[in-house]
Amino acid sequence: MSNLFDLTGRTALITGAGRGIGREIARTLAAAGADIAIAELDPSTASDAAEEIRGMGRQAFSVECNVREAGSVNNAVASVLEHMGKIDILVNNAGIARWTKAEETSDSDWLDVIDINLNGTFWGCRAVAPHMLARGSGSIVNIASMSGSIVNKPQPQSAYNVSKAGVIMLTKSLAAEWAGRGVRVNSVSPGYIATEMTRKAVTTYTDWAAIWHDMTPVGHMGEPADVAHAVWYLASDAAKFAMGTDLIVDGGYTAW
Ligand SMILES: NC(=O)c1ccc[n+]([C@@H]2O[C@H](COP(=O)([O-])OP(=O)(O)OC[C@H]3O[C@@H](n4cnc5c(N)ncnc54)[C@H](O)[C@@H]3O)[C@@H](O)[C@H]2O)c1
Repeated sequence: MSNLFDLTGRTALITGAGRGIGREIARTLAAAGADIAIAELDPSTASDAAEEIRGMGRQAFSVECNVREAGSVNNAVASVLEHMGKIDILVNNAGIARWTKAEETSDSDWLDVIDINLNGTFWGCRAVAPHMLARGSGSIVNIASMSGSIVNKPQPQSAYNVSKAGVIMLTKSLAAEWAGRGVRVNSVSPGYIATEMTRKAVTTYTDWAAIWHDMTPVGHMGEPADVAHAVWYLASDAAKFAMGTDLIVDGGYTAW
């Protein structure tokens, strides 16, 4: 039987892959054989990540991109197509969190989160769609969150929760539109994962970590690789019948 998880010869574009979960997705897909393109706000982490991928023996290309701006995403996709020739896999990973009480949330707090997490994901899907639909193949994996299905405790983050619920429904909507045309769209919803995003939270709000661990059946946070392996599955031919699914990887958090 052929190895359905083998990504040799595929090109994967990952947003926000300079650090954290996105960087681990880049490593994992590269280890599975893919060449990697990184579209990232921070050009220095992006070029560092690309260097690391080249060190693994794969081709890598990095481009500065702000997923908040549709034009920036369109330019990044055009640049990747010019340098790498094709995009087989898109992972919309770039995202931010803001912890503000709803009644104290400013216009810019709200819009930053919705623009980057939800609109940025749509700009990415829309930008690769003509290419993938014309070729009749492609796999898009959107990084949502368990926060798209539940309300976290104790942090107030209504914009974040709404943005991720939007990503889950966007994923289903696009999957239904494109399923018959060879393009699969799915999401991965992580629980608490140890990255800079959560480190910032638990060092600022020192009582949160104990609550998060207590509310997670396995009793601790996950690692970026736990998310990356789920992305690998959905990106690969092993998931050829998975369309519009939201794969929750959360140490059991949403089971309780
Ligand atoms: N860490 C967690 O517990 C957790 C849980 C659920 C979902 N997620 C989601 O996983 C994704 C990655 O999170 P992380 O924990 O690795 O975060 P992180 O803050 O460690 O890394 C985010 C990366 O995205 C980049 N980025 C931010 N804004 C961008 C923009 N406008 N354009 C392009 N790139 C941008 C950053 O430069 C950074 O490299 C996010 O979508 C996040 O919401 C994380």
